Amino acid sequence: MNITYYGHSCFGVEINGKKILFDPFISPNKLAKNIDLKTLRADYILISHGHKDHLADAEMLAKQTNARVICNFEIQEWLSKKGIKNMIAMNVGGKVKLDFCNVKCVAAQHSSSLPDGSYGGNPMGFVVESDKGSFYYAGDTALTYDMKLIGDYRTIDFAFLPIGDVFTMGVDNALIACDFIRCWEVIGMHYDTFDAIKIDKEEAKHKFERAGKKLTLMEIGETKHLDLTLKKAKEWEK
Ligand code: NI
Ligand code: MN
Repeated sequence: MNITYYGHSCFGVEINGKKILFDPFISPNKLAKNIDLKTLRADYILISHGHKDHLADAEMLAKQTNARVICNFEIQEWLSKKGIKNMIAMNVGGKVKLDFCNVKCVAAQHSSSLPDGSYGGNPMGFVVESDKGSFYYAGDTALTYDMKLIGDYRTIDFAFLPIGDVFTMGVDNALIACDFIRCWEVIGMHYDTFDAIKIDKEEAKHKFERAGKKLTLMEIGETKHLDLTLKKAKEWEK
């Protein structure tokens, strides 16, 4: 599994040669100015909710890459009016089987209006399960007891969690979220992009360390290779 960070909550995850792109918000993000959108490719684009900082580049990238867009029904309707055809509409609680992984939509406690003010449906998180490992992409969310359902019934190797506070959970609540989902390996997102969500990155990492957990904060443009084939979430239990 290869993970590339494109800033804010936008990640590319490559599994068995197929690439999923999450929440494309690159061209308006000054911190991601070195990312060349034209070189991006994706087989699937997953959108967690309707806010602009999660789908600003969705239309352009869906057209450029011909990726299949997975999002809620309302965002699908909205994108279809912009000429995007190749989509899978889902809603919270649903699962689809793709050729290389399963995608399950899980609850997120947030809001979800579209950039033009129209109704964006419910916000979601995603659990992606594959033979190369499984992970939880939380989207924008508060800490919520719904996360316990993930921990109780699914095995998560690592999780993308928002840590910027103000609009989503902050670091302290993300630490509790780890216990709910029973996963202690976290890649942070939704921090530093705007003044309101600037964080002390070293302090955040230390808080995770002190709790026996691991927070990875990737550089924008960086790719990490993870070999999770042999790992099980239980091995990371304290
Ligand atoms: Ni949001
Ligand atoms: Mn957001």
